[in-house]
Amino acid sequence: MITLIIFCILLTTIYVKDTTSLRCHFDRRCMCFNITDEQYVDCSNINITTIPNLPSNINFLNLKSNQIILISNGSFHNLNHLSELDLSWNKLERLELGSFTGLVNLQKLILEHNNLSQQWESFPPGIFYPLKSLRHLNAKYNDMKGFLACENVITSLKSLESIDIDITVSSVCPNIDYGFSELTNLKSLKTGYCQITYWSTITFADMVNLQFIDISYCNIVKVIDNPLYYQKQLKNLDISHIVFHTKDIVLIVANFHYIPIQKLIMSSTVRDSVRLPPVLFGDLNTSGITELLCYC
Ligand SMILES: *[C@@H]1O[C@H](CO)[C@@H](O)[C@H](O)[C@H]1NC(C)=O
Ligand SMILES: *[C@@H]1O[C@H](CO)[C@@H](O)[C@H](O)[C@H]1NC(C)=O
Ligand SMILES: *[C@@H]1O[C@H](CO)[C@@H](O)[C@H](O)[C@H]1NC(C)=O
Ligand SMILES: *[C@@H]1O[C@H](CO)[C@@H](O)[C@H](O)[C@H]1NC(C)=O
Ligand SMILES: *[C@@H]1O[C@H](CO)[C@@H](O)[C@H](O)[C@H]1NC(C)=O
Repeated sequence: MITLIIFCILLTTIYVKDTTSLRCHFDRRCMCFNITDEQYVDCSNINITTIPNLPSNINFLNLKSNQIILISNGSFHNLNHLSELDLSWNKLERLELGSFTGLVNLQKLILEHNNLSQQWESFPPGIFYPLKSLRHLNAKYNDMKGFLACENVITSLKSLESIDIDITVSSVCPNIDYGFSELTNLKSLKTGYCQITYWSTITFADMVNLQFIDISYCNIVKVIDNPLYYQKQLKNLDISHIVFHTKDIVLIVANFHYIPIQKLIMSSTVRDSVRLPPVLFGDLNTSGITELLCYC
């Protein structure tokens, strides 16, 4: 019995010691741990409103699900080893110019589900200049007006390979920002809030190297001409949860014979009890599609 009690006490001490040693010495609200040689700092879900003071040697920083409204100039200035920064699910409205100064090795930036909808107040000109190594930007679910996709804000991100972004094509923004044509490494596009209305040849005209397009849940009313005309590298297309007319789907699939497409996802794309025309299957048959996902 006594041995058992001692054993329990021993276990408790070990457990408490272990969990407390995970708390970061520079800020007890955050957890610190190492995986191989990389240092992780997890300050998610602790209701902070400002960025904690952080040591310069960290590689991964998680600030998800807090109450941060503003990133001020120089907030991360010493974090030149940081490779991933997650600021999703905060209340971000503004990024001051200089917010990302110092993040020269940052590869992944997650800003999704914030309130960055104040145009140049949210994304001042030059905001992304310091992010020379950025390969993945996720800024979706911020802005119904789709400002980031329309103005010349992302053009400096020459290393970018994937982008998750809100898109609103309207009279203010008739097609997606021409600055995308300079992002020659950009292979993947995924939309958050998305209002395209008329998906035409010019909609994605400046995104010529895309291999993956996910525009599921986009609000598209009509397809015009050759919507995928400039996507000569396209491999995967997800058009799930867009209620297309049958003739719109035919127009999309008609593009498939001149692109290297392999996978099409069209769950809940086709209306109930619609008869698909034989020409659609003919075009699918002659395309390179090897995978068709359709939970219709
Ligand atoms: C992680 O590694 C760094 C550098 O080797 C060390 O200073 C730090 O104490 C380690 N952190 C933890 C939680 O083990
Ligand atoms: C954060 O705030 C929410 C709402 O006020 C509360 O429910 C939650 O317990 C808080 N979490 C922490 C870690 O303080
Ligand atoms: C940001 O801070 C740096 C260093 O303190 C300063 O040189 C720079 O002018 C500031 N930028 C802005 C936009 O306030
Ligand atoms: C988003 O920001 C605007 C402008 O500052 C503000 O009026 C609005 O309340 C914010 N929305 C949320 C959900 O915080
Ligand atoms: C599919 O293509 C093959 C070979 O190109 C052809 O023999 C076959 O009849 C086509 N099927 C349909 C349904 O078009």
